[in-house]
Amino acid sequence: MPDIDTYLRSHAGRFEDELCELLRIPSVGVDLECRRHMHRAAAWLAEQLRPLGLATETIATDGHPLVYAESPKVPGAPTALIYGHYDVQPADPLDLWISPPFDPTRRDGNIYARGATDDKGQVFTHIKSVEAWMNAEGGLPVNVKFIIEGEEEVGSRSLEKFIGEHADRLACDCVVVSDGAQFGPNRPAITYGLRGIAYCELRLQGPNRDLHSGSFGGSITNPANALASVLAGLVDRRGKIQVPGFYDDVVPITNRERKQFAALKFDEEEYFEQLGVDGAVGEQGYTTLQRRWARPTYDINGLSSGYQGEGAKTVLPATATAKFSFRLVPNQDPEKITAGLRARLAELCPTGIEIELVEQYGSPGVLVPLDSPYIAAAARAIEYAFSTPPVYIREGASIPIVAAFHETLKADTLLLGWGQNDDNTHSPNEKFSLADFHRGIKASARLWRELSDIRK
Ligand code: BES
Ligand code: MN
Ligand code: MN
Repeated sequence: MPDIDTYLRSHAGRFEDELCELLRIPSVGVDLECRRHMHRAAAWLAEQLRPLGLATETIATDGHPLVYAESPKVPGAPTALIYGHYDVQPADPLDLWISPPFDPTRRDGNIYARGATDDKGQVFTHIKSVEAWMNAEGGLPVNVKFIIEGEEEVGSRSLEKFIGEHADRLACDCVVVSDGAQFGPNRPAITYGLRGIAYCELRLQGPNRDLHSGSFGGSITNPANALASVLAGLVDRRGKIQVPGFYDDVVPITNRERKQFAALKFDEEEYFEQLGVDGAVGEQGYTTLQRRWARPTYDINGLSSGYQGEGAKTVLPATATAKFSFRLVPNQDPEKITAGLRARLAELCPTGIEIELVEQYGSPGVLVPLDSPYIAAAARAIEYAFSTPPVYIREGASIPIVAAFHETLKADTLLLGWGQNDDNTHSPNEKFSLADFHRGIKASARLWRELSDIRK
């Protein structure tokens, strides 16, 4: 595609500058102070799409706005729905950032900023590929629709509602999502599985006020002690989660998939070394990749109780809270899991403690069939841009709305992550490789060509 590729080369610098503009907007979804920045980010994206000739609107929701855009109709050609998110995770702890999170900085071949890879930089690759087709060829060879949301990091509630009410508008032949990672540097991948999630908050109430731990300790249940033992009671020493019915619907890993994972030659030593830990732990009888991609897990995400300031304070706290989540594999139902959890918590709850469980959000895991012409088209597009064919991987993280694309829109999702595992998503010094950014744009542009060969 000489014209498109020339266009991409000659506008590469501007694409980076524009991405920096978007990254300067602190669209932290959970931060109430950031509401106006959520609107700014949505409006900025709409102003990228509208001048390309796409019918574009920002749609208000109960939460953060959606950006929706549709390209001019190309009869007989397939329709791709491009999904991404403009909300980003909080940037804290701020003092660990080498350059400030919302002051995007290019250094050693990367762009550093909160949202660089998750997901502003990645969704932007598709906007720029559409721009290239519009400006270099006068139009796209396929139909595209963009849906870009601001609540991915908190469970995509508004978008789920929108899909339920407007499935006809979002009708498509496949969904394209770039919100993930390659298997490694120069090892581009197509992801065919995501884990689901059930995220909970647990509140333990003990005595009616904080107490002197010397005068009262040992005579009543300390909520912080109780929290530690309740949380520990959710998993046993073999790494099996202790919730009734938890494994009932788990599909065992097939021999075929075991072999496929093994063939990826995942370097465990390097993995642990990069993370600064001295070895593997997890559910007994599984490899690290199996544990991360194809087995359900339990992790505490936050703990608070008692005195957190400098030095010591002998207090028996009145309350203790924890945030924790289960990662689920396809076929596990988040609601069934939290029902089982409630039963288990009732068993574990000691005398003198009242337990409250708040379910934050849940979404099921997904598996995408690999034998579709859309996957084959994506593989060719990736090989064209990265000069090597993709490997097929699963992913341990979640993109909650993908299940709704399958269930409500009946469309398979192409999960084409352009990032790397060391991009520091949700962590200080988030980055996106500029080479991957540009290859992502090139692969996206090629994808529209490859998809257009699939006649409907
Ligand atoms: N982009 C990530 C998910 C991801 C990470 C996919 C790495 C592939 C590779 C997404 O933004 C994310 O962080 N999802 C959350 C969802 C949750 C908050 C409902 C997650 O997995 O924790
Ligand atoms: Mn993301
Ligand atoms: Mn994320």
